[in-house]
Amino acid sequence: MKTVTCTAPVNIAVIKYWGKRDTQLILPTNDSLSVTLSQDILHSKTTISAAKEYSGDRLWLNGKEEDITKNKRMHNCFRETRAIRKAVEDKAAAAGQPIELLSTYPVHVCSENNFPTAAGLASSASGLAALVFTLAKLFDLPSDMSELSRIARQGSGSACRSLFGGFVAWEMGKEADGSDSKAVQVAPETHWPELEALVCVVSDAKKGTSSTEGMQNTIQTSPLMAERLKVVPGRMEAMKKAILAKDFESFGELTMRDSNQFHAVCLDTFPPIFYLNDTSRGIMRLIHEYNRSSPDGKIKAAYTYDAGPNAVIYAPKQNMREIIQLIAHYFPGTDSDYYFKDTYGVLGGA
Ligand code: DP6
Repeated sequence: MKTVTCTAPVNIAVIKYWGKRDTQLILPTNDSLSVTLSQDILHSKTTISAAKEYSGDRLWLNGKEEDITKNKRMHNCFRETRAIRKAVEDKAAAAGQPIELLSTYPVHVCSENNFPTAAGLASSASGLAALVFTLAKLFDLPSDMSELSRIARQGSGSACRSLFGGFVAWEMGKEADGSDSKAVQVAPETHWPELEALVCVVSDAKKGTSSTEGMQNTIQTSPLMAERLKVVPGRMEAMKKAILAKDFESFGELTMRDSNQFHAVCLDTFPPIFYLNDTSRGIMRLIHEYNRSSPDGKIKAAYTYDAGPNAVIYAPKQNMREIIQLIAHYFPGTDSDYYFKDTYGVLGGA
């Protein structure tokens, strides 16, 4: 028997992934870019045991056993990692070297988040990234993160970006087999330590429309989506430039515009998808007011929203205290927490 435990962090996109060109391989319709948050505060932790004696693969999520046979995406990750391990085992066998046939053993997977799963805080991203990273450790696979990101992508698209710290792009790729659709690091977590993220949990209710279902409805019904796909390539380039130059003005504006456009295509989906609520919109107005109050007219904070009402606010460190006070004053029901991006640690090994 062999057992390995690893953790993986949450990432929050500043250029959003929304739409698949291939739903089986999880190939996106546009590039995306995210910031990986500190895993000291938000992470998924996965333990996997492989044993000859187990009667079959089993899965526990946050302490509750789930029917693993229904989890096709998890199977994709098992299939891909077992295939790479099998090739290593075959090679060793051909060379007459002893090797444990781990690829043939059933596995028991135990995964938990240290934050509410239903809160829409990218739990699938950290969860599937932790799964793939732990499988890679279990099977002693080469730890080329971009390579592993192609496997994590087949678990959940956004998971591929959680294999890196710092600023991470998911390149959509062109190939039909997905071989060039992978995550790459744009800048490491040490690059911009003054940038911080504040996660405001507006509601921890489970979202009405899942990202998986919502994005395909958008692709099928939203005429505005074609416009978005024309805009994203330019935004990706501008965002990378802003990050490398630590230009918060551009980073902030691009982040807010991309979040707004993503929610616009949700509204343009038929029937429409509403992820934002009155509190989310109130926080957006507050951030715009706050930016307007800036003496030099510069952007001091930027919001972004995923497939749910919870706000993530990016801002330079020196503005954070003021922002937290404003949120607490105007939205006393919002459970805002202070997450430091710069304390992000590397993925934990066994
Ligand atoms: C709005 O990665 O959850 O958070 O690939 O179907 O699992 P699947 O979708 P998922 O979608 C995330 C959408 C988003 C934007 C983003 O993280 O880029």
